[in-house]
Amino acid sequence: MSSPLGTLGIDFGTSNSAVAWLGQQGSARLMPLEGEALAMPTAVFYNAEDSTTHFGRDAIRHYLEGTEGRLMRSLKSLLGSPLLLETTQIGHQHISFQDIIATFLSTLRDRATQTLGAVPRRVVVGRPVHFVDDDPERDAQAETSLRQAVEAVGFEEVSFQLEPIAAALDYEQRLTKESTVLVVDLGGGTSDFTVVRLGPERMRHADRSPDILATTGVHIGGTDYDRQLNLAQVMPLLGYKHMGPEHREVPSGVFFDLATWHLIHWQYQPRAMAHAKTLRSNYSDPRLHQRLMQVLTERHGHLIAHEVEQAKIRCSVHRADTGIDLSLVERDLLARLGVADMQAHLHDLLARTVACARECVQRAGLTDDSLGAIYLTGGSSALSTFQLALQAEFAGVPLVEGDLFGGVALGLAYSR
Ligand SMILES: Nc1ncnc2c1ncn2[C@@H]1O[C@H](COP(=O)(O)OP(=O)(O)OP(=O)(O)O)[C@@H](O)[C@H]1O
Ligand SMILES: [Mg+2]
Repeated sequence: MSSPLGTLGIDFGTSNSAVAWLGQQGSARLMPLEGEALAMPTAVFYNAEDSTTHFGRDAIRHYLEGTEGRLMRSLKSLLGSPLLLETTQIGHQHISFQDIIATFLSTLRDRATQTLGAVPRRVVVGRPVHFVDDDPERDAQAETSLRQAVEAVGFEEVSFQLEPIAAALDYEQRLTKESTVLVVDLGGGTSDFTVVRLGPERMRHADRSPDILATTGVHIGGTDYDRQLNLAQVMPLLGYKHMGPEHREVPSGVFFDLATWHLIHWQYQPRAMAHAKTLRSNYSDPRLHQRLMQVLTERHGHLIAHEVEQAKIRCSVHRADTGIDLSLVERDLLARLGVADMQAHLHDLLARTVACARECVQRAGLTDDSLGAIYLTGGSSALSTFQLALQAEFAGVPLVEGDLFGGVALGLAYSR
């Protein structure tokens, strides 16, 4: 079958990815990616027991069930970093992280193709406002690397669209009158903002650039919240900020890396393990060092990060204190995560994020009363602590909660 006419939108997210299709007519629709699910975790698992490769929820399930192998998450965070081209050993092969991204993208392509019947020619891929903050060269490199990965997958016509603009184009579909909107896309890796004029009339224009009044973005997202909460609530149980015999804290590098999704697996390298072992003399309580070594030898880093993420979501949704189960590290070991902890530990990250939203409105030259709404999308936009901080900054502007995981992909398919 020849390529179907239309546009495929690919939202390659730090945490989750989604794909949407807009044919010659009608509305864009999300493609099922894993069974019925319309988004899937950006995760790859290499099974060392039978040399198979798994994606999405299936990847995470294998990892959590304790299958021997390697889990890759937060791959997008490597774009723009020299680590992208480093190779890593998977079974008997050495594969670069860029190739792992291409493998993941080809899975998205295959799954969309199953629904569409053939590989689409035209694809619009989302990109954050900044892949890398304050470094235009590395930022451009990040887009080039992503383009190479998408082209390697075999799409003929590849273009990019800013993720918050895509989110705005999706929101516009349901507007019945013109409105100037601050679109907020809070994801796993980045927080992006755009002030944009939207409306049924404007939708007809081929060139939307006059309607985009400002865009800003900051490299802070849900994985940074996870890291911060991990450092504050869990890592102290392994020795972070622990006072050693000479009144000196245990060197903190290993805890920072162990709490950072895309750096976790580097901690299992023999050199890093040997270093961790030498930290023993920096502890006054040897039990904490034992826990650290247990986490490293049993490779529980991703599992802890996953538990922290789930606790963050529980705490946010129920607005109630919760526990972080660490029984795999030590029998009955439990960390706490309270609403007050969330407020205290995420305060700075959220203040920087809200300041970036404010800057966007300032750059657009607008006052708050000219904003019709603040439209929220991206998984982290559901975070109650964030919504409170944003509402405090933009008092009186209505917050509209949108599609958490599919909006960007739909808007990419609507991009021209
Ligand atoms: N109910 C919730 N409350 C708070 N955070 C949530 C909730 N649900 C999901 N998240 C967080 O949302 C993030 C993922 O959001 P999303 O899928 O929009 O990101 P992404 O598109 O993969 O990332 P990016 O756009 O930055 O590349 C994760 O950090 C996850 O922990
Ligand atoms: Mg996103």
